[in-house]
Amino acid sequence: MSSPYRKALRGAYLVVAMLGAVLMRCATAAPLLKVCVDQANPTWTMDARVVRASAKTQHYGVQLVKFVGLGKGGDGFPVNRFAKLASSECQLVMGFPVDVTNPSLPPDVVATLPYASTGFVMVQRIQAPSSSLSELPKGSEVGIAQLDTYAGLLYSAHPNIVMHVYPKDSLMLADLATEHITAGLAWQPTIERYIHDRAKPPLFDIRIVPEKHMRWNLVALYMPSSQRAAELFAEGLAELKNKGQLERLLEPYQVVATTAGGRIAPTVADFKPTSGVIHNSATQDLIKVSNTTTPSAPKHKRPPALYAGAQAEKGAIAYFQNCAMCHGPLMEGQAGGYAGPALKGEDFADASYDFHVSDIFNFVAKLMPPSAPGSLTREQDVLIMAYILQQNGYPAGTHALIYEEAEKSKVPLRYHGK
Ligand code: HEC
Repeated sequence: MSSPYRKALRGAYLVVAMLGAVLMRCATAAPLLKVCVDQANPTWTMDARVVRASAKTQHYGVQLVKFVGLGKGGDGFPVNRFAKLASSECQLVMGFPVDVTNPSLPPDVVATLPYASTGFVMVQRIQAPSSSLSELPKGSEVGIAQLDTYAGLLYSAHPNIVMHVYPKDSLMLADLATEHITAGLAWQPTIERYIHDRAKPPLFDIRIVPEKHMRWNLVALYMPSSQRAAELFAEGLAELKNKGQLERLLEPYQVVATTAGGRIAPTVADFKPTSGVIHNSATQDLIKVSNTTTPSAPKHKRPPALYAGAQAEKGAIAYFQNCAMCHGPLMEGQAGGYAGPALKGEDFADASYDFHVSDIFNFVAKLMPPSAPGSLTREQDVLIMAYILQQNGYPAGTHALIYEEAEKSKVPLRYHGK
């Protein structure tokens, strides 16, 4: 320990740590990360474990602020309370679930990249023949808890089953154990906890339900003013991942249904959306959902040059600062587990959507980022548009893109490969 080499190392470490502390103080005025965890959430011990480990890699401590996220009279915790927590109590609020097929966040907050993935699962007795919802024999009775809002949706997709809505998972599981119902649908973390606490040997088997609204990402929420804390968390996660330590910390919320022998392990491809969506905030509709594969624009036609190279370079930086957390560093979107849709590739700009440059430009300028629409400068909007064009295979030219042109441009936006 006392060799000069060690000392030098320790000296270097101290300088780095001090620098870090100074930076941290400027940005957030706190040597510890203040992190809220919801003790009503079955994932809370995992949430705490992950944020502690991630902070540790960055040489920060964590001050846990525990809260119980239950609303009045058994109602859910009102979403705007998350924004309040993030602005008053802590820098990060862990464990917020985001629906992969219909992502939305509470107002005024930003989300980190997802750190875990979970969802609603189908539960059956362990000896039951493995099946999916649609394979269950006609008239099968299926219990459902916490998911009543989707009961109608599932039922219309699977007329072979009869739904029973239970007020609590435990009641449903009791009926499942005694063979009163064939299967149940429930929130994986709740089931995991139940299995962990009670049944040994395990009574139940978990299977994924490959339908809309069943797969959820867990993110941490923060206010833009806590950006530095979010970055530290992200850097810590990346480091844990590189060291191969993340998987163990996330157990069992890493992916849905790898438990019970992992018979059905979902792959990213299972959930890859076949198209993107645009949220029309005026009508609250999700539009442009297409499952058809229309041939995309012929690749041999050289796309026009619409921006200058330097714009795309600067645009990349603006993109990473403002968009990558939701659309992915490679613009891969939901296929990579991010909350937002892909911004490049066939799924994004398929010819069937008939997008023009102005459609995307105005969407970004007016509606993105969702937590603060219209908050970017006009210049940033233009630079990011240049970067999106570059990533979709448009060449740089001598003429720079300008705001007034982008706003009206009727040039078709297609993926030209890259
Ligand atoms: C907090 C997450 C988040 C951030 C940050 C964010 N987006 Fe989005 N974006 C979404 C979601 C979710 C959608 C899906 C539709 C919706 O809800 O409006 C979306 C939709 C889009 C679309 C429409 C894509 C399609 O499939 O048609 C574009 C374009 C877009 N975002 C660009 C951007 C750009 C550029 C930025 C950065 C300035 C950005 N977004 C920042 C979450 C985000």
